[in-house]
Amino acid sequence: MKTIQEQGYTFHEWLKPEQIAKDVKQVAARISADYADKEPLFVVVLNGAFVFAADLIRALKDVRCEITFIRVSSYWGMSTTGQLEFIVPLQQVVDNRDVIIIEDIVDSGLTIHQLKAHMRAQGATSVRVASMLFKPGKLEYEDAKPDYIGHELTDEFVIGYGLDFDGFVRNLPSIYKVDNE
Ligand code: IMP
Repeated sequence: MKTIQEQGYTFHEWLKPEQIAKDVKQVAARISADYADKEPLFVVVLNGAFVFAADLIRALKDVRCEITFIRVSSYWGMSTTGQLEFIVPLQQVVDNRDVIIIEDIVDSGLTIHQLKAHMRAQGATSVRVASMLFKPGKLEYEDAKPDYIGHELTDEFVIGYGLDFDGFVRNLPSIYKVDNE
């Protein structure tokens, strides 16, 4: 089994590029079927989702669409609901648009929960979520369950294919899981 070392931790290869390609194709086929007669606006959540987004939008079939990017950061300050800071704010009007948020991974769901509320407040007709990975056991916000999921996992930490470990390893073509020994 292929393993790598990063910052003193061992990670083993979990999803190879061939499997990731299958997952992306499956998600793209579902979105293509659901949005054939619509003109969705994809909102890519930076930084992690850029790799998945690049593959996903090119795998769509006959979907006329637009793509925009945002960068957010979640803070848990005094409030239990947390607060979303827009580091790169939404630059596209979402009013009357069918929005599909593209994420790398949904964990507690806080980011997506807040983003969906934000898009709705801005007048989006519909808001759905496509995420390469989903940790169902960690979900704290029911409305953040992705509509389109590449692959599910339990609560392990994963890296690669856009996912980072302190800013590094986003460029790995496979997805690796941390070894918990
Ligand atoms: P949430 O708001 O708790 O759902 O967190 C989502 C964000 O946490 C993702 O966009 C990632 O940036 C980060 N994240 C959660 N789990 C992992 C992981 O296993 N590896 C790398 N980043 C993760």
